[in-house]
Amino acid sequence: MNILGIETSCDETSAAVLCDGRVCSNVVSSQLCHSAFGGVVPELASREHERLIVSITDSAVTESNITKNEIDVIAATAGPGLIGAIMVGLCFAQGLAYALDIPFVPVNHIEAHIFSPFINDGTSHLEPDGAFVSLTVSGGHTLLSVVEQDLSYEVIGRTLDDAAGEAFDKTGKMLGLPYPAGPVIDKLAEKGDPAFHKFPRALTSQSQTSKSYLNNFDFSFSGLKTSVLTWLQKQTPEFIVLHLPDIAASIQWAIVSVLVEKTISAARARSIKAVSIAGGVSANSALRKAMKDSCDKEGIALYIPGTIYSTDNAAMIATLANVKLSRGMKTEHCYNVAPYASFAAGARKA
Ligand code: KG4
Ligand code: ZN
Repeated sequence: MNILGIETSCDETSAAVLCDGRVCSNVVSSQLCHSAFGGVVPELASREHERLIVSITDSAVTESNITKNEIDVIAATAGPGLIGAIMVGLCFAQGLAYALDIPFVPVNHIEAHIFSPFINDGTSHLEPDGAFVSLTVSGGHTLLSVVEQDLSYEVIGRTLDDAAGEAFDKTGKMLGLPYPAGPVIDKLAEKGDPAFHKFPRALTSQSQTSKSYLNNFDFSFSGLKTSVLTWLQKQTPEFIVLHLPDIAASIQWAIVSVLVEKTISAARARSIKAVSIAGGVSANSALRKAMKDSCDKEGIALYIPGTIYSTDNAAMIATLANVKLSRGMKTEHCYNVAPYASFAAGARKA
């Protein structure tokens, strides 16, 4: 079965073809037009998707060595994300499915991230046998959930304010770094000292104010943002330039240490021996290393997507459609855009 996946929820235009469950192509175009604005401008994002969607889809189909008439199913992101951006991909995908007279599968973007460690490109993981704890960290979401074999989910923690990716991007902006700042901080931090300055870690065992951190799997990053801002205001520009790698490493560690601590305590609390990380921030090298070290210490299996599948891509959209179809999900012919969709249709309340 050949599945064409389409992803346009934010600032990546992407199309991918999955042939019998395996990735045959995954074309991603990242929009550069937002960097001057320090964040994604929704209207510009929609226009860029519209400009590129046909050529990106053509490239994905050509690279996969099939023709359009050999596509059996089309899947596209239906939410959550920017409404105008999603509508471009969703309308295009449904229109193409209608013209080819083939089924259409709407996909939840966050759920697709959760399954990204299991994208089959010949090098990837098989799914764990039982439940796993998923940390999903992107520009818009920070979620800890328990994912069951039957694809039902229990959200056990989420951010109370900023997402982890936002914490990287906004503190990076304070340092004068371009958007998105996450990968730039990651690179700078390679040469920096994470212990250079201790920024606060909210709702953790190290937090002075929180007495009930145990079994509290929620996150908060807005205090870190304020702390970085007020600390930077007390430093001279020369000091900041001189110590940029150390400051980047200190900010990065303040975010990463919280993500690791909460994920591991969630796995411990639920006696679950499998953990996965996904979403744009899962590309972070310090997070990958720290999570691996902690999982090894605890005897927990860790599932991580290849770095090209951490950030937004259509291979994960086609993969989730494939998983759902293989488990009996029905296809649809018409589906409305769902910009504020909760991350999983099958989510259970904790
Ligand atoms: O999943 P994604 O591509 O888009 C959303 O659905 O939001 O995630 C984008 C986020 C941005 O905040 C970006 O700064 C962050 O992922 N990111 C990183 C790294 N690569 C991307 N953050 C830290 N380290 C990285 N290497
Ligand atoms: Zn995403």
